[in-house]
Amino acid sequence: MGKIALITGITGQDGYYLAKLLLDKGYQVHGVRQPLAHDDTHHLTPLRHALTLHWGDMTDQTSLNHIVQSVQPDEIYNLAAQSHVGVSFAVPEYTMNVNGHGTIRLLEALRLYAPEARFYQAGTSELFGNSPAPQNEQTPFDPQSPYAAAKLLAHQAVVKYRTQHGIYAVNGLLFNHESPKRGDDFVTQKIVKAALAILAGQQDALVLGNLDAERDWGHAVDYVEGMWHMLQQDVPDDFVLATGQACSVRQFVEEVFTALGHQIKWQGQGLDEVGILVENNQEVVRIAADYYRPAEVHCLIGDSRKAQQKLNWSASTTRQQLIQDMIDAQQDIYGADIQTQRIRA
Ligand code: NAP
Ligand code: GDD
Repeated sequence: MGKIALITGITGQDGYYLAKLLLDKGYQVHGVRQPLAHDDTHHLTPLRHALTLHWGDMTDQTSLNHIVQSVQPDEIYNLAAQSHVGVSFAVPEYTMNVNGHGTIRLLEALRLYAPEARFYQAGTSELFGNSPAPQNEQTPFDPQSPYAAAKLLAHQAVVKYRTQHGIYAVNGLLFNHESPKRGDDFVTQKIVKAALAILAGQQDALVLGNLDAERDWGHAVDYVEGMWHMLQQDVPDDFVLATGQACSVRQFVEEVFTALGHQIKWQGQGLDEVGILVENNQEVVRIAADYYRPAEVHCLIGDSRKAQQKLNWSASTTRQQLIQDMIDAQQDIYGADIQTQRIRA
């Protein structure tokens, strides 16, 4: 029989791609779903029949104990989180409870009920904050948000359970990764969907915050492979996964419109800056202070040479392929209208 994996956060973006990867590898896959979420399994529809889902919550020790005890997993992937950095400033205590204390709860469940299980923690490049790029495993942490502070607690807990309790527990320090399954509130998906809706005549403008933030955007399908590799090593260790390519929000906007056959030019500065379609001067991008964060992380670019050398992992999907994949996934909704718009332009 194949190995047994338990995934928290299975209903999210990475949960889908990881569950698919593990099922393809012959794993029996179990997942945790929150009791209060509604419509939480729509991403999982193609896989749903092959998965076993359990009610549980990262804020509830009893449910995590019960799930770990009954599933007896070989591998636990802790992907569950309040994962929106901007939102974490509004709900800092909740974010710490889910992302920080929740990780400790799950590690305790493992230690008590399945101590031989291997543990993957969904760590983040946000830990590096404004430490100079490129960032790697040696770069000092500089958390800028409640989200990053909570993930730092989780990171340190994983290291302690590894060194003090002898548990095979690892931190993946993952840079931004996107896909058609990306939540609508993250900037890449927001840009893709807005560009399509604007060109289809269904939306007035795309309203954004800091256009100058730089991120290292890869495709989630590559990153879940890296997670799996981290749990197959002889010795547990922490790894950065990244593409090594920087791209600003501004550039990402340009690339999405270019992929749709349109060119953007920029006018004005700061909150008055606008993005305009070259072909007809239509104002399609505006800025709003609401989308700025109390503390900005300016530039995240990963150096994943350690993962390349020790895991034989590298990000194989280019940003252009990622953008095309995200656009293609929306074609059912916007396809016909977009064609019309192109002919008119
Ligand atoms: P996501 O799409 O936001 O998924 C988050 C998952 O966590 C969802 O399944 C959500 O359930 C679940 N969850 C939230 N609160 C929970 C709670 N209290 N109890 C149980 N489950 C809960 O995030 P993602 O992009 O897949 O990212 C996966 C993980 O990697 C997260 O921990 C994130 O912080 C981390 N990470 C992501 C990136 C990235 O670029 N994507 C980079 C570095 C690290 P519902 O569906 O019910 O809301
Ligand atoms: N969400 C959002 N919405 N971000 C915007 C907007 C906007 O309207 N305008 C500009 N941005 C900027 C943000 O300020 C940030 O600098 C950048 O776009 C990316 O924002 P997000 O897509 O929300 O992602 P993130 O980088 O903050 O966080 C993601 O990546 C982290 C890894 O670095 C999340 O997936 C985190 O969970 C993950 O840890």
